[in-house]
Amino acid sequence: MIAELSKPSVYMKDPQRVQKTMESMLKAGSNTLQVISDFDMTLTRFSFNGKRCPTCHNILDNSKVISDDCKQKLDELLKTYYPIEIDTSLSVEQKLPLMVDWWTKAHELLVEQKIRKDLLATAVHESEAKLRDGYQLFFDHLHQHSIPLLIFSAGIGDILEEVIRQNGVFHPNVNVFSNYMDFDESGVLKAFKGELIHIYNKREGALLNTGHFQELRTRPNVLLMGDSLGDLAMADGVQNMENILKIGFLNDKIEERKQSYLDSYDIVLVEDETLDVPNAVLLYLTGNK
Ligand code: TMP
Ligand code: MG
Repeated sequence: MIAELSKPSVYMKDPQRVQKTMESMLKAGSNTLQVISDFDMTLTRFSFNGKRCPTCHNILDNSKVISDDCKQKLDELLKTYYPIEIDTSLSVEQKLPLMVDWWTKAHELLVEQKIRKDLLATAVHESEAKLRDGYQLFFDHLHQHSIPLLIFSAGIGDILEEVIRQNGVFHPNVNVFSNYMDFDESGVLKAFKGELIHIYNKREGALLNTGHFQELRTRPNVLLMGDSLGDLAMADGVQNMENILKIGFLNDKIEERKQSYLDSYDIVLVEDETLDVPNAVLLYLTGNK
């Protein structure tokens, strides 16, 4: 079908379904396509040279805008809650209140730091955040073909926008749903805006943004990309969906989680730090291959 699907990092429970879905999406045409992607650990790398890469929150946690005392507290939160996020022995119902606790506590700590808006760009610039290899082709190709890309992130909108801006790929076809910072008139962080988006309420987040999906109602074919099972709900607001192809990055706890990822995502990419497969799928869907 597509050479990249033979990469050793690619796993599919039902390759025939993948083929059929892609064929119907190709037939419908790229003017009926929209892409919905998670940000942290989906568009960004999970690791580089054996070292973990930062999430949006980690970019701030590791930067000069946070005091050492606060860094330690945020690190303790990460050490407590990240293992829960990826624990396969707990159900979503069990994890949900704990994830709300994590986000709430982390955001409270960030607000206490009186972070200045004008220092965010430097924090991103000095960070180790990296978009996955192939990001240029991914963003540029979607832009050239006027395919809307929704980045739907439980991270921090101001930070992720800065990451894509500094990489030169914040094109006008990109929309972002995320947690945005609210600054006072002197540019100091005072709160986070709107409803909190955490890892397991993307469905609610999607349903709050009906206007966006209404605008895209002529695009009932969806390419969804995520790295968490919570990301599967990102397309819940799509109207009159016809086809959806779901690509999941499995970065951590591979053996324990592989089966559940295979049951939920059409294409599972195991420890694959590139966007080669999404790019190949996009080239196919836009008739370039
Ligand atoms: P995503 O929806 O863009 O993937 O963002 C969510 C990620 O952010 C999730 O994997 C957990 C991570 N996170 C941190 O690294 N530090 C934090 O303080 C919080 C609240 C979340
Ligand atoms: Mg993620």
